[in-house]
Amino acid sequence: MKVGVPTEVKPDEYRVALTPAGVRELSDAGHEVYVQRGAGMGSGIEDDAYAAQGASIVPGAEELFAAAELIVKVKEPQPGVIARLEPRHTLFTYLHLAADAELTRSLVDSGATCIAYETVEDASRRLPLLAPMSEVAGKIATQAGAFFLEKPLGGRGILLGGVPGVAAANVVIIGGGVVGMNAAFIALGMEATVYVYDRNIDRLRELDIAFGGRADTCFASTLSIEERLSEADLVIGAVLVHGARAPHVVTRAQLGLMKRQAVLVDVSIDQGGCFETSRPTTHSDPVYEVDGVTHYCVTNMPGAVPITSTYALTNATMPYVLHLALDGVLGAVDANPGLKLGVNVAAGQVCYEGVADAVGLPYVPVDEALRGVAARAA
Ligand SMILES: NC(=O)c1ccc[n+]([C@@H]2O[C@H](COP(=O)([O-])OP(=O)(O)OC[C@H]3O[C@@H](n4cnc5c(N)ncnc54)[C@H](O)[C@@H]3O)[C@@H](O)[C@H]2O)c1
Repeated sequence: MKVGVPTEVKPDEYRVALTPAGVRELSDAGHEVYVQRGAGMGSGIEDDAYAAQGASIVPGAEELFAAAELIVKVKEPQPGVIARLEPRHTLFTYLHLAADAELTRSLVDSGATCIAYETVEDASRRLPLLAPMSEVAGKIATQAGAFFLEKPLGGRGILLGGVPGVAAANVVIIGGGVVGMNAAFIALGMEATVYVYDRNIDRLRELDIAFGGRADTCFASTLSIEERLSEADLVIGAVLVHGARAPHVVTRAQLGLMKRQAVLVDVSIDQGGCFETSRPTTHSDPVYEVDGVTHYCVTNMPGAVPITSTYALTNATMPYVLHLALDGVLGAVDANPGLKLGVNVAAGQVCYEGVADAVGLPYVPVDEALRGVAARAA
């Protein structure tokens, strides 16, 4: 298999989809690896380090897409990149298509087979390729929230942990999955008062044990969240319904219940956002204000710490990349039902139901769409 690693071009994105360790594993298994010049620079990885493990360094995206069959990326392809995708390509990356109808239509038109990291599942129905970035984003969420609560940055001017004689800030986390738990651990480490809301009672039981009584776990009814909002200094949104657009857990009307210059961090923004007033922002312009409440809605939060994120991501993705290279997309998804759940678009069809529903395109079951891929390859 010819595997290609392009340079990420999304603004403020410094991660890369393969490290020299990944190149070594692929080369040793007899595959050809093409890395775009400078692809690893943002993560502190020189071209020479890739070349030393057997990669061919190609000068630009044009040569990369011409040479490769399996394209391994980090973020969703940007418009200039989509134009390079062809039916013979398999794209393996984060896609978050439920929040982006235009991108979905472009990928359908490309005819490529598109596998989304965030909908690949393991045998326990967890999301092994989302989890490492959720761990990073959860930790950043609390750091960013603490930062934007500072007065010179437009915040209320409250220190998360308080000091002796002065109460700590209240941190409300909605969605107690991987992001939520990591956000809570950092908030607890900073000595804030922490409340974590989720609708899954078994998950609340697990969190209760993990927190050892240091944070309150709460069932996420509309009323219980609404009642808490007036006390909150920092609200972190971290809900996820697999593959679907994020549900709104705070409405515009409910912003009126909050303190002025409180901070909302919407980590679920990549799935469309879980606050009604959220819209995507970037690391270079991360916040805006609605009704006196600061909103932080950066869609690629882990991109800010590439030296951590690139290694965390590639540790998780590498076994899947190897499997796709060894068996081809049809063989690999046939052998691994969890990987098959990652196939969002194939043979010009949307084959993930949550995505099809969210973007208003017809849904074709994945096995049917993959028969189209097989027929074309025959
Ligand atoms: N912005 C970024 O850079 C970035 C980075 C990583 C992850 N994310 C996103 O963060 C979100 C959370 O990811 P995760 O890995 O923690 O997911 P997860 O599946 O581990 O956790 C999501 C949690 O939300 C809960 N939930 C679902 N609907 C709910 C509701 N209505 N009210 C309360 N809880 C609800 C679920 O029970 C689950 O515990 C995803 O949308 C993911 O794509 C964003």
